[in-house]
Amino acid sequence: MDKIIVRGNGPLNGQIPIAGAKNACLALMPATLLSEEPLTLTNAPRLSDIRTMTQLLASLGAEVTALQDGKVLATSCHGEINPVADYEIVRKMRASNLVLGPLLARLGHAVVSLPGGCAIGARPMDIHIDALSALGAEIELREGYLHAKAAGGLRGAVHEMRFASVGATENFLMAASLAKGTSVLKNAAREPEIVDLARCLRAMGAQIEGEGTSTITIEGVDRLHGATHPVVTDRIELGTYMLAPAICGGEVECLGGRIELVESFCEKLDAAGISVEETERGLKVRRKNGRIRAVDVVTEPFPGFPTDLQAQMMALLCTAEGTSVLEEKIFENRFMHAPELARMGARIEVHGGHATVHGVEKLKGAPVMATDLRASVSLILAGLAAEGETIVSRVYHLDRGYERVEDKLRAVGAQIERVKEDT
Ligand code: UD1
Repeated sequence: MDKIIVRGNGPLNGQIPIAGAKNACLALMPATLLSEEPLTLTNAPRLSDIRTMTQLLASLGAEVTALQDGKVLATSCHGEINPVADYEIVRKMRASNLVLGPLLARLGHAVVSLPGGCAIGARPMDIHIDALSALGAEIELREGYLHAKAAGGLRGAVHEMRFASVGATENFLMAASLAKGTSVLKNAAREPEIVDLARCLRAMGAQIEGEGTSTITIEGVDRLHGATHPVVTDRIELGTYMLAPAICGGEVECLGGRIELVESFCEKLDAAGISVEETERGLKVRRKNGRIRAVDVVTEPFPGFPTDLQAQMMALLCTAEGTSVLEEKIFENRFMHAPELARMGARIEVHGGHATVHGVEKLKGAPVMATDLRASVSLILAGLAAEGETIVSRVYHLDRGYERVEDKLRAVGAQIERVKEDT
């Protein structure tokens, strides 16, 4: 197992290219199950989660070929399809549940293991089940697997989700694209990854309107055809690297970044004393004069502040002037980075869904442990500005969501290296 060693140093300067979005790509790849014709995804990120989805799709009978060093994924699913998504693959990643909608739509039945994923909360599947049941699927849980069937095929329906779940919106979109008749999803998630999936499905011949709003209308079609689709920029990777110059000083241009992907995040950066400027190639981030100011943050579904940037934002606020309160409204157990940051001298109190961060002048390097994907990168960010050396172990979480993190940070002047762990 690898670990990452970070030495706190001065300002960071230069450019960081932002990859295609992991979370978009993980929803786009299963869309290949909806058509006999090939689906090609460009601007794909090179991550272990993408390899896990490749493995899952292959186990179902689809082909996924990584071209151009993994930046292009050529997918197709023209042969026999296995309807069973096995626990051994699904447990590695919750996004595996995104094969449920497409399998049901294409085959009329599916058996999908309940997922695992990051240990950041209960993450049940009830919203997915309700949404697909509304389309006429009968779903029951037996021995850890969801057994779903739609005997006469899926039928369009109006459905309102109890919460705007990202994954359930994606499953519903894919399933309803091949259902008979019109479907309307109310209280749909509005994340850019949903918009990206809808665009891709439309390129495949689906009839979808309203993506990016709370009401999405889908007119079912008999079949979908092949398409080539570029994966949208990863707004979470973008926000993460925007925080590097915010924490360390200097000026970094994040190539491919766009304000509309990270608007609520940018508002908080501005309030904390960080300037963000749109350029022709991306977003240029610079720390204004003086110390970071404390800000309060509440995580919410898009367009609110993303939960996937909460841990990284906390790393910034650890050295702010004053006290910040971070409220986590999406996942109930997502402050596992707080005790690790405390090992570096941060002063954080966690009470339920709130974390109160009392800013300190400086963090100090320490051995820390990554507990989930976004927590790992927050520890790296904190280490970049800490005095001395920070050793982050269990970085396999990191490789699920960040391609070549150490190369990208080193290119702007960070002192960071990856070493093999003994145990
Ligand atoms: C997606 C993202 C993840 C991000 C999250 C919230 C992918 C692959 N992952 O996850 O990085 O943190 O959106 O922006 O896109 N819930 C239920 N029942 C359900 C489904 C969800 O109670 O059936 C709850 C979850 O436990 C959680 C909340 O709803 O508390 C949000 O989950 P959801 O929007 O579904 O997130 P994911 O699609 O799993």
